[in-house]
Amino acid sequence: MKKIIVISILIVSGLLITAVSYVFIRSNAIINKKYNIALVDVVISHDPVSVAAGKKIALTRGCYGCHNENLSGNFYPYWETGMVAANVSKKIPQYSDKELFRLFKHGIKKDETGLWSMPAGMFVNLSPKDICRLIAYLRTVPAVENKLPTTAFSFKGRMNIISGEIISEVVSLPLHPFNLPQMAVTMLYLQAR
Ligand code: HEC
Repeated sequence: MKKIIVISILIVSGLLITAVSYVFIRSNAIINKKYNIALVDVVISHDPVSVAAGKKIALTRGCYGCHNENLSGNFYPYWETGMVAANVSKKIPQYSDKELFRLFKHGIKKDETGLWSMPAGMFVNLSPKDICRLIAYLRTVPAVENKLPTTAFSFKGRMNIISGEIISEVVSLPLHPFNLPQMAVTMLYLQAR
């Protein structure tokens, strides 16, 4: 009898460990997927008019809403992915202009993985000129220290990533409502510029 209980416990633990490992390995493969989108040359004007226009974009596209005052980053415990809205003020110097352009145009980070939990669909329809203005402004933001937790995808978040319920922003772009030209938000933006 004792032997049967021990064997059952071993089998159940083995199955549990296999299931948990599967969730981590499978979700890591999706999270770490690289997207091969070539970098393009960009010319950034750092004149005060461009910087002011870029600041307006940063203020109206919600950068500060997620990334906190000073763009020093923030953590929202209720986000299911466990993502941390990065300390942008310290990230910008690590990016080249071309890489920043690709980040906003395609939702792809410096390491070629896709953005998670940052609504790239809100930025892809910015004109190339406006993305350059945004970059010009971001270059003026001073680096600020901020103690933030490290991004740790929750177990539930990982399961939702495997099931496809949560998708990387780069994958969601073609489906993103902001990316549909008929959406009012895009039309208003296009009319205004
Ligand atoms: C809804 C919240 C949200 C908004 C709005 C938002 N971000 Fe983010 N941002 C995030 C999150 C979350 C991450 C971390 C994403 C990741 O690591 O996959 C991030 C990451 C970044 C990064 C760092 C990427 C890296 O390599 O780690 C930069 C730079 C950035 N955002 C700039 C901006 C700018 C500029 C704007 C406005 C135009 C903006 N963000 C708007 C949530 C947001």
